[in-house]
Amino acid sequence: MRVDEALIEKVKASVDIVDVISEYVQLKKQGRNYFGLCPFHSEKTPSFSVSPEKQIFHCFGCGIGGNVYTFLMEMEGYTFPEAVSHLGEKIGIHVPRTEQENIRREAKAEPLYRGMELLTKLYHYLLMKTSYGKAAREYLDKRGFTAQTIEKYQIGYAPDSWDTATRFLKRRGLPLEPFVSIGILATRGFDGKIFDCFRNRVMFPITDMKGRTVAFGGRVLDDSKPKYLNSPESNIFHKGKLLFGYPVARPAIKKKNEVVLFEGYADVIKAYQAGVDNGVASMGTSLTEEQAGLLTRNAEKIIVCYDSDDAGVEATFRAIDMLKPYHRSVRIARMPKGLDPDEYIERYGDDAFRHNVLGASATVMAFKMQYFRQKRNMNDEGDRLKYIETILHEISELPQAVERDHYLRQLAEEFSISLDALKQQQYQIYRQRKSKGELGKETTEIRPVTQTRPLLPAYQMAERELLAYMMHDSELAFAIREKIGAEFYTDLYGALAAHLYAYYEDGWPPDIASFLQKLNDPQLQSVASEIAMMEITDQATDKVIDDCIKVIRQHGLEERIRQKERERKEAERANDFEKATKILAEIISLKKGLGRN
Ligand code: UTP
Ligand code: MN
Repeated sequence: MRVDEALIEKVKASVDIVDVISEYVQLKKQGRNYFGLCPFHSEKTPSFSVSPEKQIFHCFGCGIGGNVYTFLMEMEGYTFPEAVSHLGEKIGIHVPRTEQENIRREAKAEPLYRGMELLTKLYHYLLMKTSYGKAAREYLDKRGFTAQTIEKYQIGYAPDSWDTATRFLKRRGLPLEPFVSIGILATRGFDGKIFDCFRNRVMFPITDMKGRTVAFGGRVLDDSKPKYLNSPESNIFHKGKLLFGYPVARPAIKKKNEVVLFEGYADVIKAYQAGVDNGVASMGTSLTEEQAGLLTRNAEKIIVCYDSDDAGVEATFRAIDMLKPYHRSVRIARMPKGLDPDEYIERYGDDAFRHNVLGASATVMAFKMQYFRQKRNMNDEGDRLKYIETILHEISELPQAVERDHYLRQLAEEFSISLDALKQQQYQIYRQRKSKGELGKETTEIRPVTQTRPLLPAYQMAERELLAYMMHDSELAFAIREKIGAEFYTDLYGALAAHLYAYYEDGWPPDIASFLQKLNDPQLQSVASEIAMMEITDQATDKVIDDCIKVIRQHGLEERIRQKERERKEAERANDFEKATKILAEIISLKKGLGRN
């Protein structure tokens, strides 16, 4: 289905790509462009750039690029018409959608996602509205979950039955096999009969980044084991790449520029109820690199709020290590030993949690100091010295001099040692560890990556430069076509030139964002957006253009000479000396052309 061209342009012209992308990515202005961590691949230094002038984005890390629609299509999984209409609705421009398109969407929606959505609704309905859900309702009520939160997180109940989900999916005309493969259903060994995996459990839907249910965590209503039955890893559920509660929390995370990391489902939900709407959970496993990437993508500040038992403290240390490369402000929230956030809130209330736990969160260093102090007897001199040494090691890892100074002073004061002595010892440790390669580089600021390609051969640089100018200026593009047509030696660049000529011939004005749209091919879009991001001088002089063309032609000539050399060798091997001599003459005349055009 096609959307009216004029409408596409109108919507695009009414928004700023920087605003749209800012809803998903933390962007910082640097020079003409904005930079941030790429939402499409995992990275630690920003190579994702957005150009407000050109209204395009490009990631120098993974190569993805395009305009505002391309971004939304990638980010939200929209089709092109969907991207236009969603963006349109947002700014109050109505984009009519045909019935036909809705039908096509339905048909395309995978039965798995559809089934999971239906199951989410079914379990939620059974919990809230039927007698089957009574015990589970009472259980949740006793634990302090309000109806509103249950609604928000679509919590449900799988009744104590072997075939509720099986029969339901069958009735809906969905194939059962896919649901066996993702662990919602299972096959009985001796007769192959299919049955429900989740029985008599409170169901927490786990959603992907787009808010689609991809798994369930099912909790028993009592103390029996296993406490939680979770959907296994599958092709729609990658536990290590998701954070529980993310789609609900995302707007708040963006707005507050802060995220709170919990361990469990109950913690996130209870915290939400307590007014902490920017919480997510790593679901009981240690934080993965992908999860660390998600956390840091939208927030400068991360509060780790894990359980206060030994396992929780250990997990906190691991999370600190995972987050370290991102250079974010990490804080650690602690509760009295033995409590998890959910239990703390139940016992001490919402305000106490917000102020005395989250509000009183400590820096990583303070957390470590407290931890190591607890492990030692501070009245024992030997222990005290060991403690100081441990902390000096920690201080050596701090990237910033002001920070190191701060904690050295604190240490000096606390133990009445001279600051100079501490500094000296710390520096010694630093030198030792540095020489062993245990410490990273001194970091001050992370510079965005704007160029990932190794040095390209001169002719390719020239081709890119020409294309960059051509994208800005249709007259110039036609002039260049007169001279070299689409005779670029790099295939992709040649294709790009051909597209560009066609684009201008259709009467479109120079507009990189529109041009990218028309390319309609990720590989071409990637190259085009990368080239478009090149900083070129605003006015292309004839000399600049001619120099580029010269370099390209030179390369063409060299290539032909190389080809002829090969042919000549071939002829010599075949003892066809007459042919070889003829080719040599050609080579000589070609060589005369070198450096002349
Ligand atoms: P916890 O044992 O801390 O559970 O595990 P919890 O969140 O406090 O749950 P409640 O309050 O007893 O209901 C933290 C997380 O680890 C995962 C779950 O994601 C849980 O939320 N977990 C725990 C499991 O997957 N399976 C289990 O058996 C236990
Ligand atoms: Mn708990």
